[in-house]
Amino acid sequence: MIFRQLFDQVSGTYSYVLASRPGGEALIIDPVLEKVDRYLQLVHELDLKLVKALDTHLHADHITGLGALRDRTHCITVMGEQTKADVVSMRLGDGDKLTIEGLALDVVYTPGHTDDSYSFVMPDRVFTGDTLLIRGTGRTDFQNGDPRAEYQSIFGRLLKLPDATLVYPAHDYKGDTVSTIGEEKAFNPRLQVKSVEEYVDLMNSLKLPNPKMMDVAVPANMKVGLAQEEIARRGWAVTAQDAQRLVGQPDVAFIDLRERSERERHGVIACSLHVPYPSLQETIRSGGILYELAKSTSKRLLFYCAFGERSAMAVQAAQEAGLTAACHIDGGLDAWKKAGGLLADR
Ligand SMILES: [Fe+2]
Repeated sequence: MIFRQLFDQVSGTYSYVLASRPGGEALIIDPVLEKVDRYLQLVHELDLKLVKALDTHLHADHITGLGALRDRTHCITVMGEQTKADVVSMRLGDGDKLTIEGLALDVVYTPGHTDDSYSFVMPDRVFTGDTLLIRGTGRTDFQNGDPRAEYQSIFGRLLKLPDATLVYPAHDYKGDTVSTIGEEKAFNPRLQVKSVEEYVDLMNSLKLPNPKMMDVAVPANMKVGLAQEEIARRGWAVTAQDAQRLVGQPDVAFIDLRERSERERHGVIACSLHVPYPSLQETIRSGGILYELAKSTSKRLLFYCAFGERSAMAVQAAQEAGLTAACHIDGGLDAWKKAGGLLADR
């Protein structure tokens, strides 16, 4: 595995780049906006293709690099399903898997620091976000933080991992880079409590000042979505209401860009073709299945995904490939459901 831990000195944030092989797909966890050039340079130097950018939770101390990375690489942005961020391409829930080529991370909902905090588990390591820090735990006094929930997340979930599991947090302010579950159990001062009540009292007595960047970072991080208005302005979008009238029309092909797990969990629009977003490029070039479908049958390609972000990028790519009738469902399956659209099992 290729693994890099990167540091933003201003906010004390750790970001992580993961990939299974040189030349393969890469994932970045908790990228910081100011460091985006550095990440992209590294991804290039390691001969990787960035396909997913993940935030463990909505950060209050720095502006996320998710939006900039998506705009520059067309990668998929990922957060937990509770996030208040306006649009991310993909939302995960407890028990899901976050996958890229050759790697699968178990998704564990660990609320407490915020109500949208997640941890991501691999066989030998865990990315804990701000839930469990090295010799500390994430503050619980804003963004719907809850010390009781954090206690359950740490004691009920994270500390149940094997003692040798490496702990990679989203922050450190002392220069520590990695710990283990066993080490934190033994030496983390916040974890030496006898009961949940004791933990709640401890967390409620911290009286920490708000992060310097909080008033800027939180609103900015809630607006990471791709501007889908521009796609609509060009006439490449169909509303969820209008899309419902196109089901079963012989001149329209519905194309689902989501992953198999999303289709299983949330259902599909009947009679859709499944073309996962990462394989889009090869299907829209000359000789590719969607290119040939559009050219030989004059079918209109109607892309959709979870929230309209992957499909907006797909429309742009299809238009650039000369498929001028391509369009997408504005707001994705989320808007489709809100408009009363029917869903079939996969
Ligand atoms: Fe945080």
